[in-house]
Amino acid sequence: MNTEEIIEMDSKYVMQTYGRHKIALVKGKDSVVWDAEGNSYIDCVAGIAVNNIGHANPKVGEAICNQVKKLIHTSNLYYTEEQVTLAKLLTEVSPHQKAFFCNSGAEANEGAIKLARKHTGKGEIITMENSFHGRTITTITATGQPKYQKGFEPLTPGFKYVPYGDAEAVQETIGPGTAAVLVEPVQGESGVIVPPDGYLKDLKKICSDSDVLLIFDEVQTGFGRTGEMFASQTFDVTPDITSLAKAIAGGFPMGAVLANNDVAATFEPGDHAATFGGNPLGCAAAKASINYILDENLLDKSKETGYYFMKKLNEIKNDHDIIKEVRGLGLMIGVELNFECRSIIDELIAEGIIVNCASGNVLRFVPPLTISQEQVNTVTAALDKVLRKY
Ligand SMILES: Cc1ncc(COP(=O)(O)O)c(C=O)c1O
Repeated sequence: MNTEEIIEMDSKYVMQTYGRHKIALVKGKDSVVWDAEGNSYIDCVAGIAVNNIGHANPKVGEAICNQVKKLIHTSNLYYTEEQVTLAKLLTEVSPHQKAFFCNSGAEANEGAIKLARKHTGKGEIITMENSFHGRTITTITATGQPKYQKGFEPLTPGFKYVPYGDAEAVQETIGPGTAAVLVEPVQGESGVIVPPDGYLKDLKKICSDSDVLLIFDEVQTGFGRTGEMFASQTFDVTPDITSLAKAIAGGFPMGAVLANNDVAATFEPGDHAATFGGNPLGCAAAKASINYILDENLLDKSKETGYYFMKKLNEIKNDHDIIKEVRGLGLMIGVELNFECRSIIDELIAEGIIVNCASGNVLRFVPPLTISQEQVNTVTAALDKVLRKY
């Protein structure tokens, strides 16, 4: 099918919930994807921070193919070696000791919220303004952005919002009914907002002193995105619970809730479940993906290439007043413009570069961690060319 035919069928058969760009992707390799017309693009979206190990990764492909031939799904009524070995691996690479598996980021946050409420016996969750935690009713409620909630009321009770980066506001909002503080270590959807120095450490202290759980939503920051396996390690702050998804299984849909032993012990049989959660196929993909990150030193690569990318973007910034700020950590980078970036995204597509727009005016660069410096040069040269028209 060509692009036009695919778009026409989409409008006829798919619910129109997405504002898509007018290209249809057919294949990928490392940091490059191809469309139905044969055009290639350097992918700085990576399925929105999912394809951290690159497209068509041979190790993950092999793990999936081998597992498909053995056992795809079992339900959680039975044990599988794939699930327990993935759980063990996650405890080795994270600051936590136990895992629960689900299928998406929203589901991971739902699980984290349920765990925090049951563990503390309290209902209130404090989240941040401009945060993003998913699209279920409870996670749009957790998301501190009214635009995602409008039209879907009644929302889940028990949420309070404070400005991101303001630890004092959290301190003032915590009350006797507070179960947890839920925070993205770096805000993604609101335009790659890196918190002020010491903020997450302050949150940790405030929560510990008040017997309130600290939950990190690492759905976007996880698996090397900010230069360590998890942003909690980048910031040297250990939360009580971490929610994960996106890059966990190299593009295969999966989510997880990680917690420390005492918190995790709150969940008893029957408390929480997901039919597909942690099925052998997803677990095989996740193990291969995490091992690839470790074996190929992608954490160092994320730091080094991220540093190089930001340096190149800052060079461009000097020539373009329309760039307000370049910011980020590792390969999670935002370029804030002083106007809406939709037209620039389309012009970059014409130059063979895929980037997306967060929060209306921030170009968000979250490429595979395998992207080369040469590809970064191509991306920044194209951006420079496009911005010269403005
Ligand atoms: C920080 C964060 N949390 C949760 C989610 C929701 O994840 P999913 O779309 O897998 O439900 C996202 C998705 O962008 C996210 O960035």
